[in-house]
Amino acid sequence: DLEQLIDPFQREITYLRLSVTDRCNLRCTYCMADDMTFLPKQQVLDFDEMEAIAAVFVKLGIRKIRLTGGEPLARNGIVGLVESLSALEGLDELVMTTNGILLPRYARALKDAGMGRVNISLDTLDPERYRAMTRVGELQDALAGISAAQRENFGRIKLNTVVLAGVNDDETLDLARFAVDNGMDLSFIEEMPLGWISSHERGQTQVASERIREELHHHFDMVPSDENTGGPSRYLRVKGSGSKIGFISPMTDNFCSSCNRVRLTVEGRLLLCLGNEDSANLRDLIRRHPGDSERLRRVIEGAIARKPERHYFDPDHVDIVRFMNATGG
Ligand code: GTP
Ligand code: 5AD
Ligand code: SF4
Repeated sequence: DLEQLIDPFQREITYLRLSVTDRCNLRCTYCMADDMTFLPKQQVLDFDEMEAIAAVFVKLGIRKIRLTGGEPLARNGIVGLVESLSALEGLDELVMTTNGILLPRYARALKDAGMGRVNISLDTLDPERYRAMTRVGELQDALAGISAAQRENFGRIKLNTVVLAGVNDDETLDLARFAVDNGMDLSFIEEMPLGWISSHERGQTQVASERIREELHHHFDMVPSDENTGGPSRYLRVKGSGSKIGFISPMTDNFCSSCNRVRLTVEGRLLLCLGNEDSANLRDLIRRHPGDSERLRRVIEGAIARKPERHYFDPDHVDIVRFMNATGG
């Protein structure tokens, strides 16, 4: 049967981002408060619950699932979840976004379990800065994770860099070179005002993608890529290499009209948009009615019918109190 999830703006929802834990082995300053507390276990979906929900989504036309967090590899037993999700019939792509720190330990097992690709977050190539931005991380561990992923021959590896003025915006060329020299793609991301943080005032560190794009044009011969990944990144192809440099610009170039995704938070809330609090509580539903996939499906369809047209982020104002780690970066 060919079922589809279509929202009121005629967008076909084919992509589910599944946050598997709010915990993380790093504490990136723009992502987490410094006094972050994590959710108690009973509030978090267990793997059986995640699988049951994912199975219904795939029946409803979801073709791609991305595991996020927090740090997905920080959840015990994650490889087992990858195994069972990759067995879902109708799912074309199972991918992950990770900070890479645990990839030396897990890359092989993930590959064997059916993980397709990994996106790895890397905001700086300077060890001191890496420590400062992540509060607790070591750059060499992240780089070892990137190498481990390359050795396992995952499809093309994409790096993600959140660019903050006065923090790492002087490194965009170095990061782009690093990606190109190592046969990877890289997306630069504009910071979104998600959650209160102490390290800086949201809005004071904004860097528009256009500025980075202009700088890079002085150093690389780049042409627009017509490839449409279905994601928010707008890519340029770096001539003479296989690499693409992308720009994710939620603040300056709203990409919501082509949105194809919803998120399941680690608490089982189906979030319809990153910039909006409206959600459906799937956790309570499946705990009250275990095995009732028909009911689950009706609630999911009802939620998709309320998906907002777009986000209205204000760079200077934190309207969305939840943090990225609980949301599914
Ligand atoms: P690909 O599958 O490689 O295209 O990945 P992707 O860009 O969909 O996923 P990735 O995890 O690499 O996303 C990178 C970043 O883009 C996220 O951490 C967010 O900052 C941002 N992002 C992803 N999806 C959305 C979205 O729906 N809305 C907004 N505003 N930002 C998003
Ligand atoms: N704005 C934009 N991106 C963010 N991330 C975390 N917090 C934010 C934010 N406020 C990104 C991380 C990583 C992904 C999981 O989410 O850098 O690439
Ligand atoms: Fe962890 Fe990613 Fe948040 Fe950094 S951005 S603290 S790696 S979840």
